[in-house]
Amino acid sequence: ILDEVSNVAEWSARYVLKKINDFKPGPGKYFVLGLPTGGTPLGMYKKLIEFHKQGKVSFKYVKTFNMDEYVALPRDHPESYHYYMWHNFFSHIDISPENVHILDGNAPDLHAECVRYEEDIKAAGGIHLFVGGIGPDGHIAFNEPGSSLASRTRLKTLAQETLEANARFFDNDIRKVPKEALTVGVQTVMEAQEVMILVTGSHKALALSKAIEEGVNHMWTVSAFQMHPCTIMICDEDATQEL
Ligand code: GLP
Repeated sequence: ILDEVSNVAEWSARYVLKKINDFKPGPGKYFVLGLPTGGTPLGMYKKLIEFHKQGKVSFKYVKTFNMDEYVALPRDHPESYHYYMWHNFFSHIDISPENVHILDGNAPDLHAECVRYEEDIKAAGGIHLFVGGIGPDGHIAFNEPGSSLASRTRLKTLAQETLEANARFFDNDIRKVPKEALTVGVQTVMEAQEVMILVTGSHKALALSKAIEEGVNHMWTVSAFQMHPCTIMICDEDATQEL
């Protein structure tokens, strides 16, 4: 528990930096990092860019897999997660474009796209560290309430609460928010060696208490990580007010 949002950004960025720097890359050996979008991780990305510019970390031997992407939103739309990731992070660091993986919500066959994504994760040797955020309804990635805790990458229809929460990115007009997304499953994230979840703000307080103080429950999908051997939750004080 950290007292401010900026400390969550700094702490999580330092953690990622340490994990990358402790990893010994070799031929075909990359650090595999799972990444989220949303407002919460923006500070972490800013810090990582700063550390990169100071020469403290390189992403040359890092492969990334993003958690999710909207369906049928053009890739260059400012609210697409492709755009978000390149704009807020990838174009400021030394990662090779071929090491970046983001689900394609415009693929002609969305099911095949999800199967391919799982195969790509497997081919990369699995994820070392998956960084995630949560929605106020306790979803991780776009695993909305009621998702199977054994789920894998697939198409999901977004919950009303998520459409409402994300309307702020679409001129506060809920009709403009895409209704579907491709998302990694709960099980996809569970298979990462390590998971780090960032939770800030009082609007996430209920979700955080459901996630860690109540039983594992598919209505609060982030609660599944109670079963993960190595998950850390990085929170600010506001997010802990229901604990
Ligand atoms: C979206 C994303 C999630 C993210 C959540 C929280 O629903 N699919 O991966 O964790 O938003 O976003 P924010 O950090 O903006 O609250």
